[in-house]
Amino acid sequence: MKILVLPGDGIGPEVCHEAVTTLRALADAKNLSLAFEEDHAGGSAIDTYQDPMPDSVIEKAKASDAVLLGAVGGPKWDEATGDMRPESGLLKIRRELGVFANLRPVAVTDALAAASPLRPEAISGTDMLVVRELTGGIYFGQPKDRSGEPGAEDAYNTMRYTTPEIERVARVAFTWARRRGGRVCSVDKANVLVVSQLWRDVVTDLHAREYSDVELSHMYVDNAAMQLVVRPSQFDVILTGNLFGDILSDAAATLGGSLGLLPSASVGGPVGLFEPVHGSAPDIAGQGIANPVAMLISSAMMMDELNQPEIAAAIRAGVSHALDQGLRTADLHREGSTTKVSTSEMATAIREAALHSL
Ligand code: IPM
Ligand code: MN
Repeated sequence: MKILVLPGDGIGPEVCHEAVTTLRALADAKNLSLAFEEDHAGGSAIDTYQDPMPDSVIEKAKASDAVLLGAVGGPKWDEATGDMRPESGLLKIRRELGVFANLRPVAVTDALAAASPLRPEAISGTDMLVVRELTGGIYFGQPKDRSGEPGAEDAYNTMRYTTPEIERVARVAFTWARRRGGRVCSVDKANVLVVSQLWRDVVTDLHAREYSDVELSHMYVDNAAMQLVVRPSQFDVILTGNLFGDILSDAAATLGGSLGLLPSASVGGPVGLFEPVHGSAPDIAGQGIANPVAMLISSAMMMDELNQPEIAAAIRAGVSHALDQGLRTADLHREGSTTKVSTSEMATAIREAALHSL
């Protein structure tokens, strides 16, 4: 199997390196042939190719079985606008690969409950999956423009969804609900936005037609933001659009104490894209202190998607083992109760435990 690795910027290369090392070790142990190819994305692609996501990289991605991406962006490219921003490279590859469903699982285990910003009794039992629509909505909607003279400028984006776009991502959410807790909460702003009224109607119809065994509820996004921090354990699968999903998944991610824990899988097209939810964290890049867990679990999601459940399970077991041992990178370390380790120490502990569990 061929995997394209796009380490990107900031801490991206550090955490990608650990993921590749771990995947290689596990694949060797299982006699599975994994070929890795590396290229640039985001700021590093701007520096190399003057383009945050050149077509040559898109072609390589399409010719691979999966794409592993670190993170993109950083202060060096903050002055850039429009298509020359690192972020627009990320949007381009999502769109080109057609990965319309972004899966962001958030499970807060007992080992992590202590690091949560919420009280242990509030966080207990939290285990949800955010299914975020990824290739439509206001991120891509046309028309969009910025025009006018300084002092009198005008700018707009368009939040837009079609019935088929809503249906296909809703199917992913309902399918996951069947494998999990059997419940979908669809999040929208149907009290204000006509695009959300369509969203709600389409989800409701599809549910009645094909998924009535799943329990469906609807929630306005402002309430959902509050419920996520008041009683996160109420959620099983959250289904939502691109922008709401971006915002809610960061809030959900921090429930476990650090953004450095949250993985994601973007699926729906022939080739999946696997990336941690955290960004490039330029403030800590190059110091060897980044948390590799989100990237490692993203690679576990990749192995699941590539029909290698044993390798996926081994990585997850390795992560649990390292956390249960009390190992923590700086983002989660608490003096007196955990052992502070570097990126590579954390990843090595995970890798060894993963190999052991195979
Ligand atoms: C994410 C990120 C991206 C997004 C940015 C970097 C374009 O925040 O994956 O959540 O908004 O989708
Ligand atoms: Mn985000």
